Parts: sequence; C-alpha cells; structure tokens
Amino acid sequence: MSAVPHRLKVFGTLMLSTACLATIGCSSIHGRPGPGPEVIRPDEVLDFPTLYKENCAACHGANGKNGAAIALANPVYLAVAGEQTIHQTITRGVPGGLMPAFAKSSGGSLTDKQVTILSQGIMQQWSAPDQLAGVTPPPYAATSQGDANRGQQAYAASCARCHGADGEGTPGDPKTGAGKLGSIVNPSYLALISNQDLRSIVIAGRPDEGMPDWRSDSAQPLTDQQITDIIAWLASKRIAEPGQPYHSH
Ligand code: HEC
Ligand code: HEC
Repeated sequence: MSAVPHRLKVFGTLMLSTACLATIGCSSIHGRPGPGPEVIRPDEVLDFPTLYKENCAACHGANGKNGAAIALANPVYLAVAGEQTIHQTITRGVPGGLMPAFAKSSGGSLTDKQVTILSQGIMQQWSAPDQLAGVTPPPYAATSQGDANRGQQAYAASCARCHGADGEGTPGDPKTGAGKLGSIVNPSYLALISNQDLRSIVIAGRPDEGMPDWRSDSAQPLTDQQITDIIAWLASKRIAEPGQPYHSH
C-alpha cells in the first residue's frame, strides 16, 4: 500500500486543532488571568485574515495554499465555484465529509456576518477573473450522468502519467521520495471526499502542488462529460461498508 491518503491527514489536522482548543481552555483554569475587557469576543472578530487563520488555515493552508484540503487561493476554483457556493459551504459544511459547518445556524461558531466576511474576503484576496478572460471553464456541478468505463479511458489519457495506471499513486524518487503521490482510489480516501470535491479538484487543479487544471498542459482540455466520467470511475472504487459514513454524491 502507498502513502497515507491525504484525507486522513486532514483528519489528523482536525484532531490536532481540537486538542489546541482544549489546551487554551485549560490555561485559563490554571491561574492565568481570565479575559480582560481588551479581549475581543469570538463573534466580534471581523477581519478576514484572522477569521481565515483561526477557522480555515489548518486544513486549507496558510494563505489558501498547500493545505491537505483543496486550495482556495486558486483563481480557477474561485471562478468556477463562485461566492455563493463558498458562502453556502462555509455555512453548512459538507455533510458526511471533513468540512465542518461553521454558521451558528448549523451548529458552528460563526455569525452570518463572519461567514460573509470570509466568503467575500476569499473572493477579494484570491480571485483573478482576468486569468480566465475568454475561456469558459466547465460548470461547477455535473450536468449529466457519468460513465465509469469511459471515465477509465479518459483517466488513462489525462491522469495516469502522474497518478499511476490505476490511480494507486507513484512512489516518487527511490532515494528522496520526491514526486511521490498517494492513492486516489483507496476506499478510505474516497470515503471521506465528496464527488463534488473530486470534480472541483479535477477542474481547478492544485496549482500549489503541481496538479494542472482541466486544460491540463495539452491542446485538448477535458470536456465537461470527460470530467463527469472520470469522477464516475473514481466513485466506482468506493466500497460500501455498513456503519461507515459514505458519500454517494
Ligand atoms: C477540518 C478541516 C477543514 C476545515 C477547518 C475547513 N475545511 Fe473547508 N473543506 C475541508 C474538506 C476536507 C473539504 C472537501 C469536502 C468534500 O469532501 O466535499 C472542504 C471543502 C471546502 C469548500 C468546497 C470545496 C469544493 O470542492 O467546492 C470550501 C469553499 C471550503 N472548504 C472553505 C472553507 C473555509 C472558508 C473554511 C474556514 C471557515 C474551511 N473550509 C474550513 C476541510 C476543512
Ligand atoms: C502533472 C501531474 C498531474 C496530473 C496530470 C494530474 N494530477 Fe492530480 N494531483 C497531482 C498532484 C501533484 C497533486 C497533489 C498531491 C497531493 O496533494 O498529495 C494532485 C492531487 C489530486 C487529487 C487530490 C488528492 C488529495 O490528496 O486530495 C485528486 C483527486 C487528483 N489529483 C485527481 C486527478 C485526476 C482525476 C487527474 C486527471 C484528470 C489528475 N489528477 C491529473 C498531479 C497531477
């Protein structure tokens, strides 16, 4: 088996941040002065950098890059998803996945105002509409049924050179491990990522990590249908296990 699937790294990060919160909680019990009047209440934090750092950076990376979860500082992703999708995802999270719901209305800790500051800030800081001038990217959500067999062929043509013939990953340089990629067909990886997020990654790439967007580096960008088929092929690798939260969409 190859490297630890990336999604499990996200899980580790989550556990770590929970532990930190617990530590902060303890320090005030053990004789540290309690919050004085100069301490800002959590729901009064209204600046984007602080909100992002405190709530998102652990998984999506400092500055929206190089985190375990999809890069948000990616103009292609932002153009395709749009502010409304981002606002909604922060509000409700991704049920069954590792993206928490943040709005108080969904059991999280952020006010609607804070969620809006986050979604607006992400667009203002990190989008670059000029980069896609004259280009029509594939739609954010799938518009048709995928075909796993066709998807396997499209995968072989566009993805296998990096992710391995069957998506099992590549060991990278035998000495340094440079260029090593984990499996994207491992059932425990696929259990924790939605088809939508797989689609977002295939469309927008991971420019921070060296994965190209849907245009790849070739003259033949992937079509909407090819992307949908590739996701259907990846999804066909999920193994349903009773008692496990599984994405079916
Ligand atoms: C515990 C880790 C974690 C934290 C913290 C987190 N995310 Fe996520 N986020 C994820 C994962 C994992 C996904 C992919 C979920 C899926 O399977 O669809 C995701 C998905 C998303 C998406 C949708 C991506 C897509 O495919 O369209 C957006 C937007 C997003 N997160 C924004 C944020 C913002 C903004 C914050 C801070 C308020 C945040 N996330 C905090 C892990 C996290
Ligand atoms: C030029 C090499 C390259 C090509 C071509 C490529 N990828 Fe990637 N891909 C990467 C790299 C590098 C990463 C980041 C790896 C990481 O974060 O562990 C990545 C990440 C991913 C991820 C996210 C993995 C995770 O940890 O969440 C998925 C899913 C993925 N690629 C699927 C595809 C599919 C499907 C295709 C074909 C349409 C494709 N990739 C084409 C290099 C490539």
